[in-house]
Amino acid sequence: MTRDFTTPITSQKIILGHEKPEDVIILATETSCDETACAIVKNGREVLANVVATQIKTHRQFGGVVPEVAAREHLEAINLVIDEAFSQSGLLPSDIDAIASTQGPGLVGALLVGFNAAKALSLAYDKPFLAVNHLKGHVCANYLDTELKPPFVALLVSGGHTQIIRVDSYQKQEIIGETIDDAVGEAYDKVARLMGLEYPGGPNLDKLAQKGNPKRFKFTEAKVGEYDFSFSGLKTAMLRLIQSLEKEGELPKEDIAASFQEAVSSVLLKKTLRVAQKYDIKTLALAGGVAANSEIRKKFFDMKEQGYEVYAPPMKYCTDNAAMIASAAYFLSNVSDDLDSEVFSRA
Ligand code: KG4
Ligand code: ZN
Repeated sequence: MTRDFTTPITSQKIILGHEKPEDVIILATETSCDETACAIVKNGREVLANVVATQIKTHRQFGGVVPEVAAREHLEAINLVIDEAFSQSGLLPSDIDAIASTQGPGLVGALLVGFNAAKALSLAYDKPFLAVNHLKGHVCANYLDTELKPPFVALLVSGGHTQIIRVDSYQKQEIIGETIDDAVGEAYDKVARLMGLEYPGGPNLDKLAQKGNPKRFKFTEAKVGEYDFSFSGLKTAMLRLIQSLEKEGELPKEDIAASFQEAVSSVLLKKTLRVAQKYDIKTLALAGGVAANSEIRKKFFDMKEQGYEVYAPPMKYCTDNAAMIASAAYFLSNVSDDLDSEVFSRA
């Protein structure tokens, strides 16, 4: 499928889409949370430049992302990351076919920085401007440097979202199940905080879990829809467990982390497989920041022995980046090219 877009100044027609015979090069920006990113991607898969300036150090002192601070840091970094993307790729603005940016969901003040920078580039270079959904971008990270083709079932696990998505075609992503309360990353970060681990808690909890006994503590699975998730009960159970163990004396942090990780990763795999079996799809793909988790990756890749094809982006494309946004702009049919479009905070 191909789509027509018009440039904002001279109204030239630009054709994009995976069936277009010529190469299509898209530059994208992404500033939805705490990474300032710019990337240049050819034909939705070939990454010509990928630049990410992370703010983790800044937010660590506050124990989480402070939206106003994030927005200010994006402002300081955005022009630098765009310049760096051009110099990494060796391309000139005239080589770019379209400019894309994350529209939402995310922190509004943060989103505005990358979104407006992309609009400005679109006007300055007379290239179509494409507004991309952040979550769809995470799923499209699986196309980067791979040959993956739909259909597949994607598990999107990030700081703000947990969804099972059936990807029927390049254009169509359908949400089949999701969390009814906390996102997986959020649960990780909260439990990590209960255990006194530094922000960002998820990766630190993962490291600790790798040294612990996953069978030491058992947690009951939440009763929700057959494809949905709930993590707030598990979080409360963790709080109680930590409090009661603290009273008894020494806290076996590694075993607690491993048991929590076991509970989370096994329910994620179980429900993703349920969707794959229902729709008779034998390809699985992980997406989102939590897809960097060692145990989730292991459980999913172990499914290769059962005849599944399994994809998970390398770490640099799991966490927030702009290459996935450029890929989504290339593949998806429902991206807006309206220069008046606004950012949004929630899906
Ligand atoms: O996708 P992402 O970079 O940002 C959005 O939320 O959109 O995901 C960030 C989340 C954070 O909650 C972080 O703690 C979690 O991903 N995360 C992990 C791991 N690496 C990052 N959680 C568990 N294990 C990890 N290895
Ligand atoms: Zn994200």
